[in-house]
Amino acid sequence: MDKLESLGDWKRTHYCGEVSSKEIGEDVLLMGWVRRSRDHGGVVFVDLWDRIGIIQIVFSPQVSSEIHSKGASLKSEFVIAIKGNVRPRPQGTENASMPTGKIEVVVNEVKILNESETPPLELDVDNLGEEIRLKYRYIDLRRDKMQKNLFLRHKVTQAARKFLADKGFLEIETPFLARSTPEGSRDYLIPSRLNPYSFYALTQSPQLFKQLLMVGGVDKYFQLVRCFRDEDLRKDRQPEFTQIDMEMSFVEKEDVMEIGEGLMKHIFETAGYKIKTPFPIITYDNAISRYGVDKPDIRFGLELKDITDIAKQTNLKIFHQVIDKGGIVKAINVPNGGEKLSLKVRNDLIEYIKGFGAGGLAWIEVKADSCHSPIVKYFKEEVLKKLKDVLGTKLGDLILIVADNKQITNTALGSLRVKLAEDLGYLKDVPQFSFVWVIDFPLLQYSLEEKRWEFAHHPFTSPLEEDIKYLEKEPEKVKSKAYDVVLNGTEISSGSIRIHNRALQEKVFKTVGISKEEANEKFGFLLEAFKYGAPPHGGLAFGFDRLMAIMSGEASIRDVIAFPKTQKGICLTTKAPSSVNDAQLKELHIKLDR
Ligand code: AMO
Repeated sequence: MDKLESLGDWKRTHYCGEVSSKEIGEDVLLMGWVRRSRDHGGVVFVDLWDRIGIIQIVFSPQVSSEIHSKGASLKSEFVIAIKGNVRPRPQGTENASMPTGKIEVVVNEVKILNESETPPLELDVDNLGEEIRLKYRYIDLRRDKMQKNLFLRHKVTQAARKFLADKGFLEIETPFLARSTPEGSRDYLIPSRLNPYSFYALTQSPQLFKQLLMVGGVDKYFQLVRCFRDEDLRKDRQPEFTQIDMEMSFVEKEDVMEIGEGLMKHIFETAGYKIKTPFPIITYDNAISRYGVDKPDIRFGLELKDITDIAKQTNLKIFHQVIDKGGIVKAINVPNGGEKLSLKVRNDLIEYIKGFGAGGLAWIEVKADSCHSPIVKYFKEEVLKKLKDVLGTKLGDLILIVADNKQITNTALGSLRVKLAEDLGYLKDVPQFSFVWVIDFPLLQYSLEEKRWEFAHHPFTSPLEEDIKYLEKEPEKVKSKAYDVVLNGTEISSGSIRIHNRALQEKVFKTVGISKEEANEKFGFLLEAFKYGAPPHGGLAFGFDRLMAIMSGEASIRDVIAFPKTQKGICLTTKAPSSVNDAQLKELHIKLDR
């Protein structure tokens, strides 16, 4: 420790990455971290890093033996400040891969501001284990990739704020400590010390508050807001995540969609990308029919085709069994799949499909002489021809078929479609960012588990006016005024025009079995607000972390969040969640049932 020096009156003149050939001959004062050092024939070369970049600094015995020996004592991630003179690198030693590769700084004075133990992770390595990265996140953040991601996120945050403020939206904060409402996922509960035996819930989204803001005449609201959901985590899910949330009064779907598209165009432009608006629009039914999922990746073909009618004309028992039970048969045609997907790969695909609960995957290879397949004998020649016509197959193609109930067939084949695109390299020459609106979602979906209708989006979503008449008797027919933005096959935004009428809201609650009393108990404040002049309103929320992950080219949202949690919801850096002491629990009137 006695080696450490204080900053004193030293002030940085440049960030390391800012120094360029323009500064040749000038004195500079730089501060940062020692990334690497090399001793070459008595001269010590150090790569000095800060968040803007990296520069080579030289500790030469020709300056002084003291400077040189101080340079030689530096180790990785020591924090130093140097005064030095910029010079061109000697011919033949330039480094074209470094923005500052043509220059170096000859150090005249150095201060060691702090030492570092050998870091537990190597900052030059790309494929580090995630556990070690998250445990030592403060070191991991020194990697260029993480700095770049955080910087882009910051830039996009500012751009989003500016865009919405310029459009007349007010940024308003809403509470995190709120009432538990069954909005979708499980709540994070917070015991109230001042109100024994009562709990707050951390807001899953500001949905109810933003609707109340509309009743309050705010007209246009936005917020970059943290949301909390206690759900099972995946690569694109965090227990706390950020939304760009907005709501508008006196609008219809098209108005909200226009703002959403405008916002995307603006922030992608800020990041240096041109995107095309308006985005294409696809209905939910069409998305399921063609892509098997409600978040279609439309960058490539491999579309699903319903071949139930053709399957009926075969002698294959399994097809008939499935169809008799109300199931469907769908197929994908893989161009040149005969050659590209070996028998072994086809067997692997069968296993993959089974992971979605499907019984299996049948294949038919279109060859010059005839079709090859374990099931081709069940197809008459003219039925086979119909199949090939419907799918538009060519010689060498491979037809993949799934027969099961509607949901399994669509999910399994929809996922297989994406897997094949990745495995077969279909994503190489596609547009970088492909947006699509999905509209006309069903208002409700039937839960086989709960044996009742549930909200497909959330309870406040308005049904299409023309479908309200079906609410009581044929709820499955009711479409809603909900819309999602899907980017490259990921749902990055969701929204809807809301119900603003108390009677309709109560009717919708009734459809899913929520009684008047229950509705009053849970959402009484909203229903009450609807009594006092609620304007028609609607909005949407972008999943900011997902958006930034795709924009940054990251597979996981954890790489665009400074301190993310693991799949088990743990912060490895701070070791949260943790136990608390008995006194804390007592204050909260909590006894643990261990
Ligand atoms: P929704 O629940 O669909 O809608 O959320 C909006 C968007 O937030 C993102 N998202 C998540 N991102 C990371 N981790 C999670 N756990 C997570 N959950 C959701 C998704 C999603 O599209 N109040 C409504 C919006 C509205 O109707 O205005 C809402 O929260 O990208």
